[in-house]
Amino acid sequence: MIKLDFWDERNSQRYSSESRDKLEPDESYLLDLILKAEASTVLEIGAGYGRILKKIAHRFPHCYGIDKSLTAYELSESYLKGTNAILYWCDVIDLHPFRDNSIDLVFDCGTLAHVSPESLQQALNEVFRVSNKFVILMEYQGTKSLGNNFVNYHKHSWIHEIPELIALKQDVAFLCSREIILGLDKFVLVVARKEAPKKSFWSRVL
Ligand SMILES: C[S@@+](CC[C@H](N)C(=O)[O-])C[C@H]1O[C@@H](n2cnc3c(N)ncnc32)[C@H](O)[C@@H]1O
Repeated sequence: MIKLDFWDERNSQRYSSESRDKLEPDESYLLDLILKAEASTVLEIGAGYGRILKKIAHRFPHCYGIDKSLTAYELSESYLKGTNAILYWCDVIDLHPFRDNSIDLVFDCGTLAHVSPESLQQALNEVFRVSNKFVILMEYQGTKSLGNNFVNYHKHSWIHEIPELIALKQDVAFLCSREIILGLDKFVLVVARKEAPKKSFWSRVL
């Protein structure tokens, strides 16, 4: 069971650090992809205090995030002030603030790696329940990007077989995975739902 205070501490440390607004190159890659998506409603899973949301809020009329850390939620209130982005305090395994098929684009940036194997299927079910057109996940596929101690770096990280799980269980029209981006051991997975436009941004960018 992930303790809330672990994530509260991490979010609080990052918020007070010099790199509070900074994106790494792989995160900038993800940002470019998100900004190209044909979507009016977006939701970030595990948004922290809103580091990414703040950079995309101008582009989408309806911009949401969720995070299970209460500290992240509280910090987001000032960090996201003046933007249209709204953060909800909830766990990805229960996205109760959102109705079925209500979000055009659901994305994450290394959050599902912190969901335990026992909860992962429920988390993916929720992501796909609320998503309407696209799901974009940037996740770890090995230990390189976080060093050899990744799985032990804290007791809250796992390497999951996410593309396989999605292909087996979810209703998708198209699934495209770009592996090992920027030399890191990460992948970006773009999943189009049935409602996604036929000729779409993913065919150009991946
Ligand atoms: C690696 S941080 C990424 C934060 C943010 N995406 C960013 O790039 O700035 C992972 C975030 O996921 C949140 N988190 C971890 N497990 C979660 C869960 N089961 N449900 C919702 N949020 C979760 C943590 O509180 C943390 O803010």
